[in-house]
Amino acid sequence: MDITFLLNEEVVSLTGVSPTTTLLDWLREARGLTGTKEGCNEGDCGACTVMITDEGGSRALNGCILFLPQINGKRVTTIEGLAAPDGAMHPAQEAMVEHHGSQCGFCTPGFVVSMATAHLNGARDHDVQLAGNLCRCTGYAPIIRAAEATEGTPVPEHLRDLRGGLPQAEEVADALAANVVQPSSADELAMWFEAHQEATLVAGATDVGLWVTKQFRDLGDVAFLGRCADLRGVEDGADTIRFGAMTTMTDVEAAIAPYHPSFAAMIRRYGSVQVRNAATIGGNIANGSPIGDGPPALIALGARLHLRKGDARREIALEDFFLDYGKQDRAPGEFVEAVSVPKQDDTLRCYKLSKRFDQDISAVCGCLSIIREGDTITEARLAYGGMAGIPKRAAAAEAAMIGQPFSEGTIRAAMAAMADDFAPLSDMRASAGYRLETAQNMLLRYLHEMQGHQTNVQEVSL
Ligand SMILES: Cc1cc2nc3c(=O)[nH]c(=O)nc-3n(C[C@H](O)[C@H](O)[C@H](O)COP(=O)(O)OP(=O)(O)OC[C@H]3O[C@@H](n4cnc5c(N)ncnc54)[C@H](O)[C@@H]3O)c2cc1C
Ligand code: FES
Ligand code: FES
Repeated sequence: MDITFLLNEEVVSLTGVSPTTTLLDWLREARGLTGTKEGCNEGDCGACTVMITDEGGSRALNGCILFLPQINGKRVTTIEGLAAPDGAMHPAQEAMVEHHGSQCGFCTPGFVVSMATAHLNGARDHDVQLAGNLCRCTGYAPIIRAAEATEGTPVPEHLRDLRGGLPQAEEVADALAANVVQPSSADELAMWFEAHQEATLVAGATDVGLWVTKQFRDLGDVAFLGRCADLRGVEDGADTIRFGAMTTMTDVEAAIAPYHPSFAAMIRRYGSVQVRNAATIGGNIANGSPIGDGPPALIALGARLHLRKGDARREIALEDFFLDYGKQDRAPGEFVEAVSVPKQDDTLRCYKLSKRFDQDISAVCGCLSIIREGDTITEARLAYGGMAGIPKRAAAAEAAMIGQPFSEGTIRAAMAAMADDFAPLSDMRASAGYRLETAQNMLLRYLHEMQGHQTNVQEVSL
């Protein structure tokens, strides 16, 4: 495998390494750069945080679930690259010392890289920026104080132009080995995938990474989609907003916020900054998970899915994509090209229930949109994750509302009807009874919210 990237200030070209070597393992084992730590090895703790820069800018990512081909053509800045060439500490490093932000120090490099990336990007929402970094000793208050202390300090000279000197497209290999490719367009991917229908597609690797680090799976033929520029990005059209499959959840959040702020607020609780910077909307749909957070919101918005196999394209309602647990309406060699959301008035509210507020998978995710004419309900789209083997609409509850007034009586009738819609499972996240009751109560919450009552637990006051 041939890949080229910048590591701190150095150009690195690698030949013959396995395409599923993670950046974390390579840094530590091949380079002895042991400042980047391994905690969970599954994207949960942030000990392995690195800064990755490409034409789109710099972002924090978890090195433990980042395969080497994903950094082809990019710049990697590790904790060792943050201090200036003359040894002067980065403002985040100084602030961590000054504010006693470290005890055992295991988490510290990850925190500092997250802080330095936020500092570079001018982000000051420190709770959000650091939610993907766990500390077991220090307590978060000194760490947040350290992050606050970096505000307004200048970005060190050597980090100001990280995009400068990135390897040019022609210097970056497309085929990394006989069975490992990095197509540079959707057309190239379509052709290759039709001929290699058993292959694994790797988008952000926030799922696939764990297949390797936790399940030690051999991925066989692999296509890394990161260089398909035409699969990435958002088209804000007259009637629809179209998200290319490779659009990251970070970019989905930014694009959807003006239209459906409740969806954007839920995305802020999707994994962490590091996870959202890698995870794509296409991967979140294609993985078919019954507990993914994107599909319920998109289904409640009436999203359409754009699929492609070779030159043939088709479009289906997103809700029809999910057939059964682990089974989707996707043929061998077919891939997700995009998902589009019709423009509409904002009646969407998204409620994510999980054991932890940040960085946790949903036990139940309810995304509700109820449309009225006057006071009469004309359409209801109640889409839930965590309630069945697939993301699913509550058809009986919806039917109980149509033509009825938007009142507590109607909502309570729909809550009762919902018992016919779902027979949820009990698992480590929640019991079946809890799931059904909370899913029902989300309808009541929706009513209260639409009546102007504050229902966000973080903002409720007496
Ligand atoms: C720490 C952590 C926290 C997480 N938290 C959340 C959370 O809060 N909410 C949530 O919903 N999810 C969460 N996830 C799950 C994960 O981030 C998502 O499912 C993610 O969107 C998957 O996208 P990806 O680009 O990383 O996909 P990948 O891992 O690259 O791929 C996932 C699957 O989709 C297939 N695939 C990818 N792109 C395409 C395509 N264009 N066409 C066809 N198939 C494709 C792959 O072959 C694979 O089968 C979390 C994951 C981690 C590691
Ligand atoms: S080692 Fe925990 S997120 Fe990477
Ligand atoms: S200082 Fe020990 S884990 Fe954070």
